[in-house]
Formats: sequence, structure tokens, C-alpha cells
Amino acid sequence: MNNTIRTMIVTTALTYANGEIHLGHILEAVEADIWVNFQKMRGNVCYFISGSDAHGTPIMIQAEKQGLSPEVFIAKMGAEQLADIQGFGITFDNFYTTDSSENEQLVGEIYQRLQKAGAIIRKTIYQAYDPVKNMFLPDRYVKGTCPRCKSADQYGDNCEVCGATYSSSELIDPKSILSDATPETRATEHLFFDLPQYADKLKQWLSGPHVAKEIQNKMQEWFDAGLQTWDISRDAPYFGFKIPGEKDKYFYVWLDAPIGYMAIFKHFCKLHPELNFDSFWQQGSKNELHHFIGKDIVYFHTLFWPAVLMASEHRLPTQVSVHGFVTVNGEKMSKSRGTFITAKHYLEKLNPEYLRYYFAAKLNGGIEDIDLNFKDFMQRVNSDLIGKIINIAARTASFIGKFFDNQLAAQLTNKSLLKLFADKQNEIADYYEARDYARVLREVTALADKANEWIAEKKPWQMAKEQGGSEELKEVATLALNLFRILIIYLKPVLPQLALAVEDFLQIAPCQWADINTPLVAHTIKPFTPLMIRIEESQIAEWIQEK
Ligand code: 2FM
Ligand code: ZN
Repeated sequence: MNNTIRTMIVTTALTYANGEIHLGHILEAVEADIWVNFQKMRGNVCYFISGSDAHGTPIMIQAEKQGLSPEVFIAKMGAEQLADIQGFGITFDNFYTTDSSENEQLVGEIYQRLQKAGAIIRKTIYQAYDPVKNMFLPDRYVKGTCPRCKSADQYGDNCEVCGATYSSSELIDPKSILSDATPETRATEHLFFDLPQYADKLKQWLSGPHVAKEIQNKMQEWFDAGLQTWDISRDAPYFGFKIPGEKDKYFYVWLDAPIGYMAIFKHFCKLHPELNFDSFWQQGSKNELHHFIGKDIVYFHTLFWPAVLMASEHRLPTQVSVHGFVTVNGEKMSKSRGTFITAKHYLEKLNPEYLRYYFAAKLNGGIEDIDLNFKDFMQRVNSDLIGKIINIAARTASFIGKFFDNQLAAQLTNKSLLKLFADKQNEIADYYEARDYARVLREVTALADKANEWIAEKKPWQMAKEQGGSEELKEVATLALNLFRILIIYLKPVLPQLALAVEDFLQIAPCQWADINTPLVAHTIKPFTPLMIRIEESQIAEWIQEK
């Protein structure tokens, strides 16, 4: 590990402004937040940004249903989404929106560059049109009978019963979900981004260290199938940015959403004039750019987005980190099955750090789904976090208060255990860097086991009973608290609130990674108070009931 300070932007996927934040969003925010906290503790400069993805037909329709203008609707939703995410201790440096003047300007500039690069094509397409609402309909807005298995009430893009994929014009007895009218098929001219032009450059970029091997393999399948031109325009009415030089045409939301990452950073630069926007986004920038996304939007982030950056002569992402979906007790989150958990609902009853710890214990940098199993959740929090890690302080701190006026020993003679704990720092840092938080927690728990074994051998409670406040007891308790402190430093990216409580209890400045190497001696601490409460089974049962 070299010691040069790295400067980076980290993003999470921008959240559609028409939905509630659920545990899937929280998984991603927690994964990225842990990584950002770790980078900051290491002394790197890290800007963590996100926002709401404000444009598109569904948002326009939802706003209309609520009798609000899209602008008012997205502002309300954005504020709610941010509050939900922040409830989990996520520390964005900026949370903004794609519906901003910064984004409109950047999208316009990038579009001009794409035109100049010869990357924009015009094509006539045939699309369903609602003659009552006077608008073109995305396939999801048409329902009818599946042409293959004849199941009724299927969406216009695929059949949920037999899995067939088709276009809405193939449905039997199609109806607009907005007006129930039978859609017409109408011709319309759309603008396309010429993705195939960038196939070779993309292949080269994707063979680098920017995505995990399993994503590279997926990409190869897409390359083998052949890349297609990408439709980037939509006809009015649409909530989005107007395409300059066109009549009644708007940019498709998926063009302006990733450019939104740049615009959110641009807005941040306005608030922090010492930052130079271009030095982050120009070709060849040495600063890093890390995107955290779910496996459903890989295509957008590893093909469209890098190709748009290439065509407009910007820097490319350093890394696109992909995670799986959240399942609940082995099942897909579903509203009808009662396994859909919103961030709000979780926060009403349970400590957000329990979930941060649990997700961290499951995240390993891969794309497998992450199962929230309530039994496992309780077990890991109660037995590992509270029963093993926090217990180290719980069973030793009271002696410092009772016999030594809250003063730690002046020195530590038995340094071998301390060294064993500190010697793990590079290995654990590498696991954090690789987003293998499961491995971090396994190492931390193994160290906690060692500390507890040692305390059990030393039996400080017996020393206290037999000799009262001896020097030996003072040293045992001091060493135990030093071991505990190292473990808390290792865990701080995952559990920032717990770390804050421990910093207060130990009366120390906010811990940095380098503090692992300096033991805490001849120092006054506060009396110990419980740092975290166990989850009761009844609490979970009650919580599920209320859903
Ligand atoms: O899939 C989604 O939820 C999108 N709103 C993500 C957009 S990410 C970025 F491109 F803005
Ligand atoms: Zn079917």
C-alpha cells in the first residue's frame, strides 16, 4: 500500500424520484458509505455524491396523479428520499437532482460534442400512441393478452406468465393503461447514439481493472450478441430536457441521469469554489471516479455511459462496483407477499447500525443477492457484535472506574497481543479496498475471540476479588480496552455511531486508521455505559406484524 493521497468522487445510483427508498437502495448506500468512510479514515480525499433521478414518463404521470407539477413533486420526493437514506448514517457530501440548470447545461454541451463526433443518428420508429392522452406510450404503459401463452393483462414488453418478450404492437387486444384506449401505431423520428462505433474502445476499456471478472464475462455476452444503437430521444409530452434544435423532442432520462453525476459534482464545486470541476472530468484526470450500482443497471454504466464519455472526450470511470439485490428470508422483496421493507419502516423500530453491520457481514464485492434473514440478523448482531466485540469493553471497563479513578495504566508490558491486533491493519485495509466487508468482519470477530479468550485466562474479576485494585488488574483492563479500541477502529467505517460513542467513552479524538499504531495509556476515560442494546425476538416479531 503506498501512502500517496488519492482524490476521488464516489457515487451511488441516482434514485427515481417517484418511489420510496427501500432496503435495496439502503444496501447500495451502505456499501458505498463504508467504502467512503474507510477512504476518509485513510486520509484520502473523497467526495461522496448522489441525488434523485428526476425525469421520465412515470414521474410525469405520478406528479399529474397527485395534482402537482413535476418540479414540486420531485422536490418533495427528493427531500423524503434524502431523509430516509440519511437515517442510516449515510454521509453524502452532496445530494442533488438531475433536474438542474447545471445538468441541462452539461447535457447540452455533451450532446453537441456527440453530434460533432458523428455519434448521433436519426431513425424512424413505430410506437404505440394513445389517441386520448395524445402521447406516445412506453411499452410498460400498454397492457393486453400475451401473443404466445394468451394470458390476459400482460405488459407490452414481456409476459410475466410465460416469459415471452415482444413489442406492445404484438399484444392481443392492447389497451393504454392511462386511458384504456386502444393504442394506434404511429411513426416518429428518434435520435440514436451510435453505440456500435465504440465497441472496440469499450472492449479494451472493459478488459482493464474497471469492473469485476464476473461483469467482464457478462459484457462479453453482450459484445458477442452485437451492440445496438441506443434511442436517446422521447416525444412530447415528456418531463425532461428539450433537445436543442429539435421540435417537441426531449432527451431520454437515461441520457441525462449519468450526466447528472457530473452535474451534482458541478453544483458541489459551486459551493466549494476551491475545487476545479474540469480537473475531475477532463480526459486523463488523475482523480478517481467510482460508481456503486446494482446488477440491473450494468449495461447503462459499462456500455452507454463510458461510450458517451469517450465520444464527448471526458475521463472514464475508475471503477464500476456492482452488487446484487436484497432478498428477505430468501424471497424477492415483494409488496404483495409482505416482504417489501421500506427504509422508513425499518427506522421506526430498529437501530440502523444493526443493518449496516448485517449488510457488511454479507457484502463481499460480488454480485450475489444479499439475503436479510431475520434469525441470522439477530444472531450476528447479538452474538458477534454485542456478545463478542462490545463485550470486551463491557467486561473490563468497570475495573478502571471502580479502582483507578477512570485512569488507564501508564504503560503496557504485554505487547504481543496488541501487536497481533495491529499487525492485521494492512490485510484488513486491503479487504475494505476490495469491498470484501464480510472478510473484514470475519477477521475482526476472530480477533475479538482471541481477546475474550485472553480475558478469560486472566480472570480480572478474580484479581479484583482477591487483590482489589492491583497494578496487574489495571494493566489487564487497560490492555483489553486497547484491543477493543483497535477493533472499533477497524469497524468504524461500518459503524460510525458506535465509534462515536466509543470515542466519547474513551475520551479520544475521532479515530483515524493510523491511530491503530498508538496505544492509549496514562489517559482518563469516562465510566462505561452500555454501547448497544441486544435485539429481542419480540421486537422483530412486533416489527413484522406492523408492516
Ligand atoms: O435504476 C435506477 O434506479 C436509476 N434511477 C439509476 C440511475 S443511475 C445514474 F445513471 F443516474
Ligand atoms: Zn405469455
